[in-house]
Amino acid sequence: MKIMIVGNGGREHALLWRLAGDKPGADFFITRGTPGTESLAKNIDVAPTDVEAVVTAAAELETDLVVVGPEVPLAMGLVDRLGESGIAVFGPVAQAAKIESSKVFAKQLMQRVGVPTAAFETFTDMEKALDHVEAGPEACVVKADGLAAGKGSLVCHSREEARRAVELIMGERAFGEAGQETLIEELMTGEELSLLALTDGKNILPLAPSQDHKAVGEGDKGPNTGGMGAYAPVLITPRTLVEEIVSTTMEPVVAELARMGTPYRGCLYAGLMICGGKPKVIEFNCRFGDPESQAVLPLLEGNLAELMMEAAAGSLDGARVSTRPGAAVCVVMASGGYPDSYRKGKKITFFSELKDREDIVVFHAGTARSGEEVVTAGGRVLGVTGLGEDVIKAAQRAYEGVDAISFEGMYCRRDIGYREINRLKAMRDNEIS
Ligand code: AMP
Ligand code: GLY
Repeated sequence: MKIMIVGNGGREHALLWRLAGDKPGADFFITRGTPGTESLAKNIDVAPTDVEAVVTAAAELETDLVVVGPEVPLAMGLVDRLGESGIAVFGPVAQAAKIESSKVFAKQLMQRVGVPTAAFETFTDMEKALDHVEAGPEACVVKADGLAAGKGSLVCHSREEARRAVELIMGERAFGEAGQETLIEELMTGEELSLLALTDGKNILPLAPSQDHKAVGEGDKGPNTGGMGAYAPVLITPRTLVEEIVSTTMEPVVAELARMGTPYRGCLYAGLMICGGKPKVIEFNCRFGDPESQAVLPLLEGNLAELMMEAAAGSLDGARVSTRPGAAVCVVMASGGYPDSYRKGKKITFFSELKDREDIVVFHAGTARSGEEVVTAGGRVLGVTGLGEDVIKAAQRAYEGVDAISFEGMYCRRDIGYREINRLKAMRDNEIS
């Protein structure tokens, strides 16, 4: 069996690690892998966004399954092209991936099928958007319609900030074409949650609920990043809340995309705000979350490779997934300066304490080989996942892993999982008293 992974970040390393565990006899390939993927997969020297080259490589290799990690090739129609060539692929076609690549498409679809989400208006005319800001509430969220590497949503706490955001997105085109159309949304408050689910366009199998830490600084301070860490599962999500999220947000969207003739096959990611115990959708993504997948995939019970094959074929009927007991915490080790400018090419030292530790897994996000050395090659460099019987133990192990790795200028948050750790401690205190 031959499986090809498209992408080369921490998420793709986690997918590869998991699939290699599930299919030990298979041959794996990855587009421009990192030193972390060398022992698991053969490198294909093709950019993940070079759609035609990926299709050619998959056809030549006669792959049994292609798994697409990032949103950009999905939005570009990689799945459509692989499908035309008769190659099985896990990921949505471009028209279904619009659930992430166009926020206007996603919001209109949610509105049509009654998915709970923030109230919104859309604008193609900057003056009209500015008028709306003047007439609206003090706080709002201004968003560029298209893909903007996770940076296109600006949370504004005053009209002045909102005016500036509209000008930035529509006037200065800070996110390029993504800002041709803009949304202005109601600001929701509550706790954020990520729920990833495998779907074949009909059946929906939710994985462990997780929480990302988007802000660069401890206590969720400072600018947003791609994600500084994640943990799973989340105590505020009892089984019934997961079921409610699936039935009120995912099922209507998946059914509507099927009705439109573009069934959604792949991983559907709901970014949610839990407002007074009720889920509301912030956004949908058309792929696994990063770093969420680095915490969620190690907890998945079941054979991911088989599930992906079945999802790709539209035949998940009767399939099940469950979450193994315990918790996972992923801490991102970043280059100092990230998410602004940072230096690359710093030598990474992995101390021997990491060897033979089954409770610590190191995923490479932005690394490269320089001769014999492994060096930094991105903002987010490594994701270190600790596994344990609860979130406290899992976090301890993740930080043991972090402390066994060093590179110049390394920055990480030291509080990943803090909300859950506080909740767990409070629950235990309650039990004692
Ligand atoms: P998005 O680009 O839609 O994923 O949004 C990025 C981040 O902005 C989210 O993770 C939230 O923290 C925040 N955000 C986006 N939309 C809203 C909203 N309507 N209300 C509150 N926060 C939001
Ligand atoms: N962790 C946020 C994302 O994957 O979009």
